[in-house]
Parts: sequence; structure tokens; C-alpha cells
Amino acid sequence: MLPTIEWRSDAVVMIDQRKLPVSEVYVFCKTAQQVATAIKTMVIRGAPAIGVAAAMGIALGMRRSKATGTKQFATEFQKICDLMAATRPTAVNLFWAIERMKKTFADAAQGGCSVDEITQRLEDEARRIHDGDVQSCRAMGAHGATLVPDTARILTHCNAGALATAGYGTALGVIRAAVEQGKTIAVLAGETRPFLQGARLTAWELVKDGIDTTVITDNMAGSMMRLGDVDLVVVGADRIAANGDVANKIGTYGVAVLAKEHGIPFYVAAPLSTIDLNTPDGSRIPIEERHDREVTHVGPNRLTPEGARIRNPAFDVTPSKYVTAIITERGIARAPYEESLAALMMSGQRAAGSGQPAAGSRQPAVGSGRPAGGRQQ
Ligand code: MRU
Repeated sequence: MLPTIEWRSDAVVMIDQRKLPVSEVYVFCKTAQQVATAIKTMVIRGAPAIGVAAAMGIALGMRRSKATGTKQFATEFQKICDLMAATRPTAVNLFWAIERMKKTFADAAQGGCSVDEITQRLEDEARRIHDGDVQSCRAMGAHGATLVPDTARILTHCNAGALATAGYGTALGVIRAAVEQGKTIAVLAGETRPFLQGARLTAWELVKDGIDTTVITDNMAGSMMRLGDVDLVVVGADRIAANGDVANKIGTYGVAVLAKEHGIPFYVAAPLSTIDLNTPDGSRIPIEERHDREVTHVGPNRLTPEGARIRNPAFDVTPSKYVTAIITERGIARAPYEESLAALMMSGQRAAGSGQPAAGSRQPAVGSGRPAGGRQQ
């Protein structure tokens, strides 16, 4: 896979996702402001990738700082964190990554580190966030593949692939892992109007990997399900509330309702950095509204008449009752999600980063493989 994002000591390099699949162009961000603009304008997108970009943008910004004293350095650091936090509101991974950078800064400053030492620690932390995301995706893939039959036609929406993460992907990680295990997988990629992440990015990634891929327009999903052409759905997430409600790309909700109607499992694959236990339910998740132009135009071509009002919410919320299971790097959570998600998050704290639940810990509705009896909706 081409790397989604790379750290160089003088730049953060990203593949320009606005231009795919027509051209493979790399953007070299030399300042924190350029990284923030890249996130806002969707050069890089996808919840985990946004978090990684913000962390690298902060590290880059501090590396370029001319501050000599820690006080001025701390003021600049806060400004850059605020700049990153103002880019996109929905994906909680962004705020999770900023918090990690803030903790790194605070620990280093409290430990009496110099400006140079703090800079180095911020770079190290940004790299750890990047590398940890790839590892999480691989672990999610291994857990998620246990839910995939030996032969499966899988519908996905938006792009939750290598491009949306530091590599491998969440939903596409599950698909990749199933393929690596020798399963016969055919993917239906919903085009994902208006930004076309499914048609442009998911299809591009999967075709590059030689995985059987069919692109459908978003309004075909229901019919495909009714015709029996979909065995399961797997999507990513931008934020998962404590009760299991899932914010993901606009259109996900419709797919989930259709899946339930047709008795098709609807899985969400997301790292723990996407789970926000401070948000009790989906109604509290901020939903980004993006520019009208994404809806009114395709490239330079106008589709809609002047004068028509436009709505462009970038995400929707799928209530947890439609979610068959949530696949994380630490295992698979099932309803009741208040308990299973909290248990997954707690198990990490107890196991002190081992990635495994502490022995004997109570784990409601959490498993690491195929559920007993293969519960379906
Ligand atoms: O607006 P985007 O392209 O950033 O939205 C991306 C999605 O909704 C993805 O499904 C989600 O971030 C999960 S990515 C692993």
C-alpha cells in the first residue's frame, strides 16, 4: 500500500485524497497551518488518519518553533493544538490525539525537559500514534475476520481503509484479513455521495489489492439486499457514544436500517480511540456541515439549479439497536453497549496497554471471536 501519511523531520507528507483515483499526488506540509488546512479540505480524511495528521502537525509546528523559553513554547503549543481542534468536529480521534500530545507535553515539561527534549518527545509520540494505529487496524482485522463466512459478499460505505487510517484500515482491515485467511470475498462499495469516498477511494484501494470490487450508487443498496446480494455490512465510525450509537459518513444510517429489515448483520469496525464514553448517546455528537459546493457540483460541473437550498451534513448517527457488533482492536462488543464498551475501555487500563483484558475481569457481551450460536439480527 502507498502510505497515507508519513513523518519527515521537515514535513508531513500525505497522498492527496481529493485527487484519487485520477492522480496520485503527494502534498508536503511544511507548517502546522498547512497540516490543519489539509485536514479541513480533505487532503487527508477518515477518523484515525485525521488524528495521526493532527499529532504530526503539532510535532511539526513545535519543531519549527523559535521559542527559547518553555513558557513561550507552551503558549505556541496551545495555539497549535487549538488550530488542529478547529479543523473538523465529528471524529473524536482528532481530540483523542491532541489530548495525547498535550499529556506528552505536560509530562515532559513537569519532568524539567528542555524545549529541544520536549520537541523530541512530541515527535516520538506522533510516531507512536501512527504506528499504534496500524497495529490496531491489524488486530481489528483479526477479530473481525472471525465474523466473516468463508464466502461472503460484503457491503461497505464510505472509505474506512488504509487511506482513512495510518494503514490497513478498519472496515477494510476486516475485509483484508478475511482475504488473507483465504476466504472468498466480494465487496460492494457504496459510492458515498457527495464526496465519493466509496467510488473513488475504497474502490481504488481494493482494486490495487486485487480484491473483487463492485461499485454501486448509494440508492442501490436496498435493492441489492432484497435481491439477496449482500451477506453482511461492515463500516467504520467517526465517533461511538457510550451507548453504542455510531456517527459515521452520511448514508450509513440508511444502510443500517435496510440491513436490519433484511436480517443482514451490520458491523462497525473502529479503534478504541473512536469510542467516546464522555458522550452518552448519539444525539450529543456534533455533526459537521460541509460546504454546499460538494453537493451542487461534481468537479467543475454544476448539478443543481441556482436558488435551490442545499444541505450537506457530512455524518449521520446510527442508533445502537441497528448495530450487530462493534469490532475493536481489543475484541468484539455486543449489546448492551453501555456495558460492553465500558468493559473494553477498562480492560485496557487494567492490562496496562497489553491489549488484552485483565484476567478475571468481568466482560459483558465482549468476545474475541465468533459468538456462540453466531447471533445475527
Ligand atoms: O468525511 P470523511 O471522509 O473524513 O469521513 C470518513 C468516514 O466517515 C469513515 O467511515 C470513518 O472516518 C471511519 S475511517 C476508518
